[in-house]
Amino acid sequence: MSASELREKFLDFFKEHGHKIVPSSSLIPDDPSVLLTTAGMQQFKPYFLGKADPIKDFGGKRATSIQKCFRTSDIDEVGDESHLTFFEMLGHFSFGDYFKKETIAWTYELLTEIFNIAPERISATVFAGDEKIPFDKESYNAWAEFLPSERIRKGSRADNMWGPAGPEGPCGAANEVYVDNLEVATLVFMEYFCAKDQSLTPLPQKGVDVGWGFERLAMIVQGTKTIFETDLFEPIAQLIKDNSGSEDVKGIRIVADHVRAATFMIADGIKPSNTDRGYILRRLLRRARYYYNSLGAYDKALGELVDHVVPIYKETNYGLNGKIPIIDEIITSEEMTFSAHLGFGKKLLEKIIKNDGRISGENAFLLHSTYGYPFELILDIAKENNMEVDENGFQEKQKAHQEISRAGVEKKFGGHGLLLDNGELKAANEEELKKVTRLHTATHLLQAALRKVLGEGVKQAGSDITAERTRFDFTFERKLTDEEIKKVEDSVNFAISQKYDVQKKEMPHEDAIKSGALHFFKEKYPPMVNVYSVGNFKTDPPEIFSRELCGGPHVKNTSEIGRFKILKQEPVGSGLRRLRATVY
Ligand code: ALA
Repeated sequence: MSASELREKFLDFFKEHGHKIVPSSSLIPDDPSVLLTTAGMQQFKPYFLGKADPIKDFGGKRATSIQKCFRTSDIDEVGDESHLTFFEMLGHFSFGDYFKKETIAWTYELLTEIFNIAPERISATVFAGDEKIPFDKESYNAWAEFLPSERIRKGSRADNMWGPAGPEGPCGAANEVYVDNLEVATLVFMEYFCAKDQSLTPLPQKGVDVGWGFERLAMIVQGTKTIFETDLFEPIAQLIKDNSGSEDVKGIRIVADHVRAATFMIADGIKPSNTDRGYILRRLLRRARYYYNSLGAYDKALGELVDHVVPIYKETNYGLNGKIPIIDEIITSEEMTFSAHLGFGKKLLEKIIKNDGRISGENAFLLHSTYGYPFELILDIAKENNMEVDENGFQEKQKAHQEISRAGVEKKFGGHGLLLDNGELKAANEEELKKVTRLHTATHLLQAALRKVLGEGVKQAGSDITAERTRFDFTFERKLTDEEIKKVEDSVNFAISQKYDVQKKEMPHEDAIKSGALHFFKEKYPPMVNVYSVGNFKTDPPEIFSRELCGGPHVKNTSEIGRFKILKQEPVGSGLRRLRATVY
């Protein structure tokens, strides 16, 4: 049974049982509290919470999907027979409709009758119960209809409670389903809302969230020894083998997994960068390049592998079709930046491995800052060579470096022949510096205004400010209406008309976050940071319009900004929008 047939059989089965087939959502989730989509249920969170109406959207309370997923948590496991970063999740969902008995009966029917798996290979686990949540007897009894008691194990909370996906959300007792010793599906019976403090409250309705690991299922049904021999991977793994002439299975699997994952990420609009999802992508590509070289394929481009990944998905609607050139371009540009350094770094590494027996903080920092090795890759290489890395020493070096580069920016400012280029702001002379400073404060007001008009889901994804304009990227799913653009513009001009003061305070990073200052999620900040607040500080409590962690520079009072105007909006990949604006 080919992978395509498997997908079809799964969806058909649930369609026949009254489920609406819903397409996969993007790897960039709607939910801004998580970086990437990790499960099929992600796009259905509002339906489990009773905040959206499945009858209105799906014509019923049942849905089925095959979801593109990515889990960083498994990255260290990639290289064995069955772990991946990117994978497809086959799912079916009930929003206040069927529950445990039906779910378990369908799971067994699928395994034995649709996928022809011998009953004696199947086993399951159910929640054993603890002081807060009782033993999942209902699941146990439902499984007992099909399996002998020795193949129904009782498990702890760690294995048999699932969720939430993200800092909070629906969760519930789970059954794990195994074929031989491989977990192929998780059945989650959503009953609670799990808050950020881990406290549980009952959901307005019970739900079912089932996820099958598609590649694992393909491996079982196709009878291969590993995921990498299924028709989902075989063409890529074979090419890596041919190109490198190597038989090192671990390296081959890592390159295959990472290039495939990167292909999907880029198709969904992610670009390599030093923050958030962009960094995850960068880390994958740099690891892939490193391992491809280690296999001996120095002169082979990673981009070539993309040509073999995309056709595997030609029958799906995952958004890969037609994107080979753009994916190839992004991968090539990233690998060129990295490859130039990789070789030099490798020489240094070989010397360290031969002479030192451990990677000092200083050497780790050198590999990272000069040769572009992601820190995690340094850890991997150390592990392979049974060496330790001085992690604390590395962190200290990095901190010291950040302070030096900050001082560098300030010096450029205060000195002669003013020139500022800190990545976000660019000015070549004093006049430009004044303009970018006005635009910089206006950009803070813009972010605050966007969040007031469009909601707190809006988060900065990047910005670039020249003397002509500010360019601001942020998380948002759709095009802004003319009315929304006008509201945002009015809100910024209102803040300007209020002649708000701009106040700078240095404080520990932790306090800054507590004060609600906006910051780049996951960006590494030094221990002491500057927080810029814009507002009226004469009232008690002060009226704060905007508060952000930032290195400056800013105007002293918003009246210095002038008028603010939005020039243009553009899409930047899925889930992200870009605005260009100016002041005059
Ligand atoms: N949401 C469940 C999982 O990710 C099905 O395993």
